[in-house]
Amino acid sequence: MKYYDTSQHVAGKSQFIDDITVPEGTLYAAIYYSPIAKGKIIKLDISDAVNCNGVCAVLTSKDIDGANQIGGIVQDEELLASNEVDFVGQPIAIVVADDYLTAKNAAKKIEIQFKEETPILDPREAQRKGELIIPPMVFELGKTENAWGECDIIVEGIAESGAQEHLYLETQGAIANPTEGRGLKIISSTQSPTAVQRVTANVLNLPMHKIEVDVMRLGGGFGGKEDQATPYAAMVALAAHKINKPVKMVLPRQEDMRITGKRHPYSSDYKIGLTKDLKILAYEASFYQNAGAAADLSPAVLQRTMTHATNSYFIPNVKATGYSCRTNLPPFTAFRGFGGPQGMFVIESAIHDAAKKLGVDPFEIQKKNLLKSGDEFPYGQIVEHGNALKCWNNLEENVEISEVNKRINDFNSESKFIKKGFALIPICFGISFTSKFMNQAGALVNIYQDGSIGISTAAIEMGQGVNTKIRHVAEKIFSVDISRVKIETTNTTRVPNTSPTAASSGADLNGKATELACVKLLNRLIDFAKIELSCDNDSKIEIVKEKIIVDEVESDLDWKELIHRAYFNRINLSAQSHFATPEIHFDTKKNKGKPFAYHSYGTGLIEVSVDCLRGTYEIDSVKVVHDFGKSINRVIDKGQAEGAIIQGIAWMTIEEILYDEQGKLMTDALSTYKIPGIHFTPKEFDVKFLENTENPFSVFGSKAIGEPPLMYGIGAYFAIRNAIHSFNSNLEIDYKAPMTNERVFTSLYKPKEKVKTN
Ligand code: MTE
Ligand code: HPA
Ligand code: MOS
Repeated sequence: MKYYDTSQHVAGKSQFIDDITVPEGTLYAAIYYSPIAKGKIIKLDISDAVNCNGVCAVLTSKDIDGANQIGGIVQDEELLASNEVDFVGQPIAIVVADDYLTAKNAAKKIEIQFKEETPILDPREAQRKGELIIPPMVFELGKTENAWGECDIIVEGIAESGAQEHLYLETQGAIANPTEGRGLKIISSTQSPTAVQRVTANVLNLPMHKIEVDVMRLGGGFGGKEDQATPYAAMVALAAHKINKPVKMVLPRQEDMRITGKRHPYSSDYKIGLTKDLKILAYEASFYQNAGAAADLSPAVLQRTMTHATNSYFIPNVKATGYSCRTNLPPFTAFRGFGGPQGMFVIESAIHDAAKKLGVDPFEIQKKNLLKSGDEFPYGQIVEHGNALKCWNNLEENVEISEVNKRINDFNSESKFIKKGFALIPICFGISFTSKFMNQAGALVNIYQDGSIGISTAAIEMGQGVNTKIRHVAEKIFSVDISRVKIETTNTTRVPNTSPTAASSGADLNGKATELACVKLLNRLIDFAKIELSCDNDSKIEIVKEKIIVDEVESDLDWKELIHRAYFNRINLSAQSHFATPEIHFDTKKNKGKPFAYHSYGTGLIEVSVDCLRGTYEIDSVKVVHDFGKSINRVIDKGQAEGAIIQGIAWMTIEEILYDEQGKLMTDALSTYKIPGIHFTPKEFDVKFLENTENPFSVFGSKAIGEPPLMYGIGAYFAIRNAIHSFNSNLEIDYKAPMTNERVFTSLYKPKEKVKTN
């Protein structure tokens, strides 16, 4: 089955915000944003900008009639800065003009004066100064204090991972059109139409029913448009509402890179204790999350770090403490994995550190401590259908680890400067939003008189293939050709109160809602067919490949005719449904419960070659066995896994975000920020499906796939370290990612870097 957007995409026919034909008279907005990271605004003079030719309006916080507030979890972020600024890139004014360049040039005429203050950029410094977004979070299982005495070895250290730019191909953007009766229709590149609707209504002091939000598709989101598409939509809405004309804004790439949030950087402390026979008895970790200047989604991201602090391992005594630290950088936000990868990097660092000190292979520790059904996670959930060991063993059936080890050792003993290395990486990822209320979705299924079907759900298509999966759901339930099924835009008037398409649960939640709506319609149609075909009440009626089958015998009624007749018999051919994930619960005071409907598991093996003269490296091979459940579409799922793995490897290796001491982003273009290209993909790339697996908790036995495989990328970091240690086993290398070429080189030839501690 072809992924139905692809031919359109490659032909350049798919529409994104900037491709939509706008009404005549549409105005263009540009943002005037803070050039400094922290300070009080003592003067703001917009008069020269207002007087520019072609400028219609310059809007500041004073022009907001409702709440100047966009914070979701914590109400701590203004749409337009009023008295002070907290990061470089914080929006202060919106210039609206006949065209974008006029608006942008007029923005340069805005005069501003600040009383500058010293910014905080480091999360540990923020924590020391009491700059926390929320109180510290503590997750505890067993008692670590009592366990240290029983350990044969205890290892402590620091692990740090960096930010990551989403680099969705389509930058942030929105168009707002005034509608009759002082309402607005907003077209937004957002993962969360309802967040756009709610925040805009609040900013404009309007009821939500005055705001309609419509989304066709996104040119990628990766979490960057879960929360942070909202302000741009709210800004064009504010302008359109004030001026009463359509207003459009699409961020230029460099501006998008400068002012939008990225993956959270973390600095963390770990302490791990093991017995001689490599059982992990105790683990403590303190996570210093760099949240940036406002909460955004940071508390939820931190919660996922905490729930993923022990990755795929059972550890009987755990204490994890998380600090969400307020700094003067653009608020960091959701990014594929949502804090999980950051937590998992720390436990992997601890295990590799312990293995080095014990003189054993890290994979021995990893395998020995894998989760089994019945084990308890630090947050109280019990492992069910635990496939960690199954995936690991399946990988070992395909590749003999001792042979890989030998092949690499043989190579390294012959090769002076090119050294190969490898690492294994098991993953375990919890599926569900950690905030229970978000685990709901809706669907509206319309069958038209001609037998064609139109489906609206809460899901946003952003390249992950959710629309195709939803088409498969209708195809399967009605047993009709998939060409009959169309997915409509995601629209707040057709499916209200939507959760963002995020947490990898888009297909799970909306697929289920679609299934429920389709079943309602199917039952109605079968009841009607019984009457129409004058069947006995206990006859068995089915639709199979568009034919109506009565007691295993094909009738002369087909789908098209059935629908035609149903319409003339006044049968309701439209059904709505709502799905809410059952059973999940979580007590945020005790940090215990069952937050996840289920978990996704898998194991990866990554091999690399490092040039120990130059510090460069290549990813030679990635082999993965992943539990996809019963995949709805293998092509899409494999594509998701491969894309996520490359994104994860790149986060751990080549993608490095740097700020200067004034909090200004230095890596704000593709000339200074390296992203994976086609030549970065592993030379050997083998993603295998764990076969004969079922998932009772999701649609047709499938499993969420959007985020989990990203975390195999962590293996690349340790594979590179492994290669470096083959060159010189005495090198002390900080557990600090990304492992850029520069860091490899300085690890090889320079003394140990200093890492800041408390
Ligand atoms: N794949 C593509 N091509 N583009 C994207 O923006 N986002 C990822 C993942 N895969 C993304 C993607 C993220 S962060 C999530 S949470 C999931 O898709 C969301 O979609 P799903 O819930 O339908 O899997
Ligand atoms: N994942 C993604 N987005 C979210 C989550 C989550 O667990 N919780 C709240 N928003
Ligand atoms: Mo994905 S980070 O949950 O949008």
